Amino acid sequence: MGFETLVVSVEDGIGTITLNRPEVLNALSSQVFGELSQAAGELADDDSVRVLIITGGDKVFAAGADIRDMAKAEAMDIALAGRPSQKAFQLIENIPKPVIAAVAGYALGGGCELTLVCDVRIAADNAKFGLPEITLGILPGAGGTQRLPRLIGVGKAKEMIFSGDFIDAEEALSVGLVNKVVPAEELMNEAKRLAKRFASRGAVALRMAKSAVNEGLRMDLAAGLQYEHKCFSLLFATQDQKEGMQAFLEKRKPKFQGK
Ligand code: CAA
Repeated sequence: MGFETLVVSVEDGIGTITLNRPEVLNALSSQVFGELSQAAGELADDDSVRVLIITGGDKVFAAGADIRDMAKAEAMDIALAGRPSQKAFQLIENIPKPVIAAVAGYALGGGCELTLVCDVRIAADNAKFGLPEITLGILPGAGGTQRLPRLIGVGKAKEMIFSGDFIDAEEALSVGLVNKVVPAEELMNEAKRLAKRFASRGAVALRMAKSAVNEGLRMDLAAGLQYEHKCFSLLFATQDQKEGMQAFLEKRKPKFQGK
C-alpha cells in the first residue's frame, strides 16, 4: 500500500486512513479521491481489518475538494470526469465494516461530505463543520445535498448549504451531525475505543446490520422491513448466532469467529 496523499496503517484489527496533505489543509484532490478508493478497497478486502477509522490527524480533517483543481474546469470537464468524489465516497459508504470518522479542526465541503459516508462521527472539541460551496458559486457535489438532510433533517441542512456557515463541534452534536465530542487530545483514543467495541462483535452480524440500515434507507418502510427480515433470518445460518445465544445462556462472553 504505497500512497502519496494518505497514510494507511493496520493495528489490532483497526485500519486507519489518515489524509496527509497538511500544506493545503488536506484538500481533496483527484489523486486523493483515487487513493481513498484504493485504500478503502484494500482495507475492505483485508479480513484482518474489522473496523476502519478515517481521520485527518490532530489539526484538520479536510478543508474540502481542492479548489485549485477545480478553478479552471469547464462544465464538460466536470461532467465527463466520472464523478470521482461521489464514487470514492460511495465505495467507503458501502464498505461492509464499521467506518468511524475522527474529526479535528475543519471538515468543510468535501471533507464534511466524507464524514457523512462514515457510519459514526467522533469530533474533537475544536472541530468545525460546514458546506461552504455556495460561497464559491457552486453547491456540495460529493453527496452533501443528499446525505446531510437525511442525517440532520432538511431545515438545518438547507440552512448550512444556503449560508455556507460553519458550525462548531457542540452545535454539530446538538443537530446530530456527530455522535460524540471529546477533548482534542482524546480524539484518537476515543475513536479506537469505539472501534475496539465494534470489533468485539460478530463480523457477519455487523456487516448485515450495516447493510440493513444503509439499504433500508433507500427503500420504503415495508420493503425495508422485508429486507431487515431477510438479513435477520440469514444470521441464523452463522456460527456466531449459535455462539452468541449459547454464551448468553451459559452466562459467559461470546467468542465470535466472524462466520
Ligand atoms: N483547496 C485548495 N487549497 C486549500 C483549500 C481547498 N479547499 N483549503 C485551504 N487551502 C490551502 C490555502 O489555499 C492555503 O494555501 P497557501 O498557503 O498556498 O495559500 C492553505 O491551504 C492554508 O489555508 P488558509 O491560509 O486559507 O488557512 P486559514 O486558516 O486562513 O483558513 C479555511 C482556513 C477557512 C479552511 C480556508 O482555507 C478555506 O476557506 N478553505 C476553503 C474551504 C472551502 O471552500 N471548501 C469547499 C471546497 S469545494 C468542495 O468541497 C466541492 C465538493 O462538494 C466536493
